[in-house]
Amino acid sequence: MSTNGDVFPPAFLWGAATAAFQVEGATADGGRGPSIWDVFCATPGKTARGETGEIACDHYHRFRDDVELMRRLNLRAYRFSVSWPRVLPQGRGDINKQGLSFYDRLVDCLLAAGIEPMVTLYHWDLPAALQMELGGWAHPDLPLIFADYADVLFNTLGDRVHHWVTLNEPWVVVNAGYIHGTHAPGVKDAGLAYRVAHNLLRAHAHAVARYRASPHNRGAIGPALNVLQAFPASESPADVAAAERATLEFCGWFGDPLYYGDYADVLRERFGAALPEFTAEDARLLTRSMDFFGLNYYFSHVIRHAPGAGPLEIEVVPQPQIPHTTMSWPVTPGGLCPLLHWLSRRYAGLPIYITENGAAFPDQADASGFVNDQPRIAYLRDHVRAVGQALAEGVDVRGYFVWSLMDNLEWTLGFSQRFGLVRCDSETSQRTIKASGHWYSELISTGRLDDVPNADGAERMGVSL
Ligand code: FCB
Repeated sequence: MSTNGDVFPPAFLWGAATAAFQVEGATADGGRGPSIWDVFCATPGKTARGETGEIACDHYHRFRDDVELMRRLNLRAYRFSVSWPRVLPQGRGDINKQGLSFYDRLVDCLLAAGIEPMVTLYHWDLPAALQMELGGWAHPDLPLIFADYADVLFNTLGDRVHHWVTLNEPWVVVNAGYIHGTHAPGVKDAGLAYRVAHNLLRAHAHAVARYRASPHNRGAIGPALNVLQAFPASESPADVAAAERATLEFCGWFGDPLYYGDYADVLRERFGAALPEFTAEDARLLTRSMDFFGLNYYFSHVIRHAPGAGPLEIEVVPQPQIPHTTMSWPVTPGGLCPLLHWLSRRYAGLPIYITENGAAFPDQADASGFVNDQPRIAYLRDHVRAVGQALAEGVDVRGYFVWSLMDNLEWTLGFSQRFGLVRCDSETSQRTIKASGHWYSELISTGRLDDVPNADGAERMGVSL
């Protein structure tokens, strides 16, 4: 392999990702039950312009065309999520055969096109019945109910699916869904949030135990965690320690229990009794319950020590001088390589997949629907280069998934945020491959980054964000 990190191994898993609620639509078709996101979107004022997932990208009806698009993009892998209420409309009990068969057909169609499926079990769309009847993830039985649901999928798809993601970004589920109340189910209760996080972790552990005990245990299973690199604002020991605390808040809250069987020490010290204890059985199931680390990477932050700012006493230092995406997220490719090194040290021995990386920009389509999205190409190229560098330096990165295959429903922000390699017209659902899609297909077919220089420079500031 090249040492400059621009050439990738032939087995590298190049893919793109989506999530059921963001692309499927057909929310009332084929026996699907409502999810907490259907309820949330139907509540006035919760989403931009009142947009909902009723149609989304209409992927449920157009999946064969979409797989054909993936083939044209040369994708080796496709990460999608299963809508739990499509399979189990009440969250438990009777299986909706029609819903399950959608995923069965999708997997067959992908395999026929030579595309490896990576299946996420939970990408935020909890069956509404479980929220109403049990209070959702706050209930201690949810982990076992989740494991039963996971088992349905292992039994149905496990002969053909070899990459499983249990939970997508539990940190966001807890922070947006239970602390700030900006995501479904819209709860604002910090105390409850720690219990929810605890049950999400237990849910992962139980699902993994079921997978490992199943006759289909021929693949790998892990979480997809959103983590950032925290650069200290200065070299002072206080800022350096604050940056490490920030990383551990993102990563140690979820990553540490899945590897070491308990929360990071600094979180126990800072959050005290608010963090529930794991039973010995929980700890046993949690320890080494990741076969890989799935990393969702979008940006990094500069962090300073901020006495009195919450239990962690950390504060983000804004970086207005560097470019930001339309999500107001800073463009920080320089954080990715150090973060990959940090992860490979803290969770030694685990392969890493970048399960999401991408950017929303103000795309302009021409009359034919084509988008010449050079800023997205620059973003992706800079991040892929960082992955290549980490690989060349010995980090075991096995794959990279662009968020997203196509423009889709960006949760509460609706269709205004465009992340796709493929444009999806929000009126007609018509698909058009963007310049970034053509660029990505070329990268996949050659396995080599081209020599075009970065659009706005790799070193964006002193700390090389
Ligand atoms: C991630 C989510 C994904 C998408 C991207 C932009 O946090 O996992 O569904 O919304 O952000």
